[in-house]
Amino acid sequence: MKSSCRFSVILTFLLGLTNLLSAFVYGQLVTPYQYDVDLLPASFHRQRRDSLRAQLPDSSIAIFFSNPIRNRSNDVDYVYHQDPNLYYFSGFRDPNAILVIFKEPFLWYSGSKVTEFLIIQPPNVKDELWTGRMATIEDAEKVSGCTTIIYSSDSSCLNLPYATFKKVLHLRLPQGVANNKNDHHELFDLLEQFKSFTAPDSVKTDDYLLQKIVARLRQLKSPEELQLLTKSIEMSVAAHLEMMQAVRPGMTEYEVEAVGEFGFYRRGAEDVGYPSICGSNENSCTLHYQKNRKTLHAGDLLLLDMGAEYHGYSADITRTLPVSGTFTVQQRTLYEIVLKAQEAGIRDCIAGNEFKNPHKSAFRIISEALLKLGIASDEDDVRRYFPHGTSHYLGLDVHDPGDYQPLQPGQVITVEPGIYIPAGSPCDPKWWNIGIRIEDDVLITDNLPVVLSGNLPKKTSEIEKIIQDAQQNSRGK
Ligand code: GLY
Ligand code: MN
Ligand code: MN
Repeated sequence: MKSSCRFSVILTFLLGLTNLLSAFVYGQLVTPYQYDVDLLPASFHRQRRDSLRAQLPDSSIAIFFSNPIRNRSNDVDYVYHQDPNLYYFSGFRDPNAILVIFKEPFLWYSGSKVTEFLIIQPPNVKDELWTGRMATIEDAEKVSGCTTIIYSSDSSCLNLPYATFKKVLHLRLPQGVANNKNDHHELFDLLEQFKSFTAPDSVKTDDYLLQKIVARLRQLKSPEELQLLTKSIEMSVAAHLEMMQAVRPGMTEYEVEAVGEFGFYRRGAEDVGYPSICGSNENSCTLHYQKNRKTLHAGDLLLLDMGAEYHGYSADITRTLPVSGTFTVQQRTLYEIVLKAQEAGIRDCIAGNEFKNPHKSAFRIISEALLKLGIASDEDDVRRYFPHGTSHYLGLDVHDPGDYQPLQPGQVITVEPGIYIPAGSPCDPKWWNIGIRIEDDVLITDNLPVVLSGNLPKKTSEIEKIIQDAQQNSRGK
């Protein structure tokens, strides 16, 4: 047996063993409903609900709705994506679901007391024929750890004595929910029921407080969450490296995007965390450019802001590359400024620092440099070229909720300063069409910050070497 072959047999065996072990640790087994064995365990979701309950005001209930199914056109829907809050508190990923959490035990119809319940859509043969296995009560119980699960076909599922609670808390209600006239137990119908039950003045609803409580919980990542977030960041780092090695003049933005997304999906990503931003030359100056259709030319910069989503958790990484493998003088000058600003921002990611500290440091460096180069004439002018903040929380949402209070251990934030100088800007035209952003994902700890995406090179010399070596190798073939 060749040693590489023996190695791959051993590797396959070890990977199998790892899967089995994690299935054992998480208490999850592959079933036709769910194939992954490293999903967040039910105990995590149960614990999240308990933490939420502890923060609810007396005599209140909190209600979370699933995301609606969005129609794309005619009879084709967009790929379904669960609402991150419903997922966080239940692990449930199918549509047409509602989670209800009581502050105090509630006397259930059976005569027993419950502290929470989950409403799910009853499986039906017709939908299962087209879109696959739907969750049963047992499946939902296993995923969520919730012991009271009811089908939405139960006519009393949302008929609660709302006026007896001091507060009925919910987040912004789902908008634009489609009404499937053939099904009377879908999200549309449940939402209508909820609205009519809570319409009387005697019911005190609140759609603000819950948002604050949820943000305070979600901003602190547990070890289980960090494991998944790290995985999505690591696969994104690997895919970004593959894009650096693949980039060539003559390629299109979408070809580079395809290399990156292939890198995500073949490593197990279920989605992208947000639409991939692959902008060359003038498009590097569009902050959230998504068209990705242009051909790359030697001398262009290519800004790649892309992150995988793994079990709901999103990476968010940006690198800016010289398509030919060498930065021009102007590109290098601005790149070094952004890098210096980013490194200063990362150094400020210390527990206890104001959330804004990384931005203030990054902004100061960029501001001084742009004023010195004569690109900007004053601070307002600097904002024209650096028009966004430096950090946001990262997690289930790429722009995750948080309280924007001083940084705390267990938070993950991005550090992503940039300089963007579109053509026509009031400065020397030699700077035009240069857009640079450098973005890493940073874990706040009790000590120094941990750059979770830190394995992805970002120095000009490193990036140039990777691109040049790859381009030379492919020419030699
Ligand atoms: N990818 C969006 C952002 O960096 O905030
Ligand atoms: Mn970001
Ligand atoms: Mn980004």
